[in-house]
Amino acid sequence: MERLLGLKLGNLRLDVPFFQASLSGYSDYAMRTLARRFGCPFALTDVMLAKSVAHPQVLAKACFRPGPDEHPVGAQILGKTPATMAKAARDLVAAGYDAIDLNFACPAPKVLRRGRGGALLNCPDTVIEILKAVRDSVPCPVLMKLRIGTNRTAQAQENFWEIVTRSLEHGVDAFVIHGRTVAERFRGKADWDALAAVKARFPHATVIGSGDIFDPAAAVELLKRTGLDGFVVARGAIGNPWIFRDLRCLWEGRPMPPPPDLAEQRLIMLEHLDRVLQGYPEKVGISYFRKFMMYYSRRHPQRKQVVVSLIGAKTRAEVEAGIDTWYNGEARHA
Ligand SMILES: Cc1cc2nc3c(=O)[nH]c(=O)nc-3n(C[C@H](O)[C@H](O)[C@H](O)COP(=O)(O)O)c2cc1C
Repeated sequence: MERLLGLKLGNLRLDVPFFQASLSGYSDYAMRTLARRFGCPFALTDVMLAKSVAHPQVLAKACFRPGPDEHPVGAQILGKTPATMAKAARDLVAAGYDAIDLNFACPAPKVLRRGRGGALLNCPDTVIEILKAVRDSVPCPVLMKLRIGTNRTAQAQENFWEIVTRSLEHGVDAFVIHGRTVAERFRGKADWDALAAVKARFPHATVIGSGDIFDPAAAVELLKRTGLDGFVVARGAIGNPWIFRDLRCLWEGRPMPPPPDLAEQRLIMLEHLDRVLQGYPEKVGISYFRKFMMYYSRRHPQRKQVVVSLIGAKTRAEVEAGIDTWYNGEARHA
């Protein structure tokens, strides 16, 4: 019953069946390593444009390379030219990434206009050419991020099934599938029945679900109900690394710890800020961290006042002082 114990991504074995999703603008080194500290066994980078990865200056920057303390970690790439995608995959593996994830899911209009991301769900031949080129170029696991079609038409469904069937013939190691169509973007509820249908049709494939994973107990129930191999945590992990601790406790049958009190929230926010500022200059880092503060503050009983106060902080010292003001208390360790 390997499935019940963990998750197999090609030659990578995770001891629990969940990990942190790719989240543009969020899932950088700081967020990934914080998730890891809370028990997340694997994480994906933000999506990287394959064409950009090919420029030597890009991978020379530390922020695009994996940190020494975050293995295993996967890099996600976006593009429509097989040779460019293959070169990017090779360069990323040479830079130290342990897995490659191909993005055929992004619904952003500028991505779709260029025929990349989710637009490729209507081009099975191109998807397979990309997969073959990447598969032949790297020895590590190759994952594919899909949505359940470009839309709900019969043609889109047919394209989706063709991609899944042929990708398995060409050695994809796992699918991460968001249970919405490209046209649906983030509207409505994720369709986990559609994801269960993929696993039912291809029981030997590794099928990892994505969509609306916010509550640990509900996520574990969903996994058991659908028979999928695993799930990824996306929005539910922003400003909430505790979700991995809680998921791990549930999965391992241990009692769930109480939610973090204000003192613990303070410690983790400061730690996250510190990790961010190790990678960015102060001004850039503070502006970037602001998004996370908005999410962290959701747990605070005086959320509105906290947001107003923290959003105005411009320097590290001001952010730290703001956090100290609103989150004062005795520290309890995670
Ligand atoms: C802000 C944001 C950025 C995202 N960036 C990416 C990305 O770079 N690559 C990707 O495959 N999916 C991306 N996604 C999709 C998520 O990985 C995930 O599939 C989706 O949010 C559904 O999961 P959730 O409902 O649990 O958030 C992004 C989602 C959000 C909200």
